[in-house]
Amino acid sequence: MKIERICILGGSGFVGTHLVSQLAARGHTVRVLTHRREAAKELILLPTVEVVEADVHDQQELIRQFRGMDAVINLVGILHEARVGRVDLPSARRGDFQKVHIELTRKVVHAMGEAGVHRLLHMSALGAHPNSRSAYQRSKGIAEALVREAGMRHVEHENWYLNGPKLIHGYGLDVTIFRPSVIFGRGDAFLSMFARLLKMFPVLPLAGAAARFAPVHVGDVARAFADSLANVATHGQTYDLCGPRAYSLQELVSYVGEVIGKRRSILPLGKWASYFQAWAMEFKPGRKLMTRDNHFAMLVDNVCSSGWPSVFDFQPAALEAVAPEYLRADTPRARYEGYREGAHR
Ligand SMILES: NC(=O)c1ccc[n+]([C@@H]2O[C@H](COP(=O)([O-])OP(=O)(O)OC[C@H]3O[C@@H](n4cnc5c(N)ncnc54)[C@H](OP(=O)(O)O)[C@@H]3O)[C@@H](O)[C@H]2O)c1
Repeated sequence: MKIERICILGGSGFVGTHLVSQLAARGHTVRVLTHRREAAKELILLPTVEVVEADVHDQQELIRQFRGMDAVINLVGILHEARVGRVDLPSARRGDFQKVHIELTRKVVHAMGEAGVHRLLHMSALGAHPNSRSAYQRSKGIAEALVREAGMRHVEHENWYLNGPKLIHGYGLDVTIFRPSVIFGRGDAFLSMFARLLKMFPVLPLAGAAARFAPVHVGDVARAFADSLANVATHGQTYDLCGPRAYSLQELVSYVGEVIGKRRSILPLGKWASYFQAWAMEFKPGRKLMTRDNHFAMLVDNVCSSGWPSVFDFQPAALEAVAPEYLRADTPRARYEGYREGAHR
């Protein structure tokens, strides 16, 4: 089936902005759902992109927005729960993992069933698992399971309290799940946050310094999504997305320091010191840098067990080929992010 009209949830964010631009450049008609049009102002000017203010948690609203679409892409995700630390902050809108990752996924697949849309691309994260120690990864893992179920026509559940297996009807959607390691690129939160910290502090105590990541470029993640849309070989598949090399967090932070000309002393913290630093940071007003839940996620390496999926006929960019350009730039966007941070927005 030809995919022309696509509805995106989470399209105003870091990955979303890159993906929507790629889709528009390929001639797709894109509807971006956002809680505030202002959040997607970079996209409003793109000719085939429609930015719609909508409450994506409203089931009927989702059904209305999905009608007439050929595909849905769900990028919505939060790294920190609003309940962590102080809740009287603007981030309180962000909700909790149960609502944003699990309930919303359930509503998306249901709305697709009701609206007659069959193609779903779902953003998860490397390390997502229903039994993970991190609540972020756990909720992402449960959401993945819901998406896989939605891809089946009939689902059998071992239902011990109802005397044996129970048959439920899935939606028979054509689903593809993506699980990237940490994503880097212009506008990222991860490397850019360390660049800001390195500019501020002469010594950096670093939680989870030994944790390993395989950063993948946002342009490659967006391209994998866009290439999958009409490729039937990707139906029912789950793809781990990693960049070409793995690094410890300490190596990454040192590299960022080198690139921006701020070689600082980095003090790797042990497991308990990392835990307590993460706990203390939960009380920082404004955007969270780190929480205990992030600490739990970092106890397990965030790297792929196999290479770049061969279904995508391009190779992912190396960090060193892309990061210097945007990390060194003192762009209005970089300054804006700094002001937002300062204003706790
Ligand atoms: N960035 C990474 O390194 C990374 C790595 C692995 C996986 N991921 C996953 O990739 C996805 C996109 O990440 P990102 O870095 O682009 O995130 P982002 O920049 O923070 O954008 C998140 C998007 O989700 C929407 N959103 C946030 N809270 C919401 C809520 N309570 N209800 C409804 N919508 C909400 C926002 O939409 P509006 O504000 O417009 O309403 C925004 O467009 C997430 O699912 C994330 O878990 C990211």
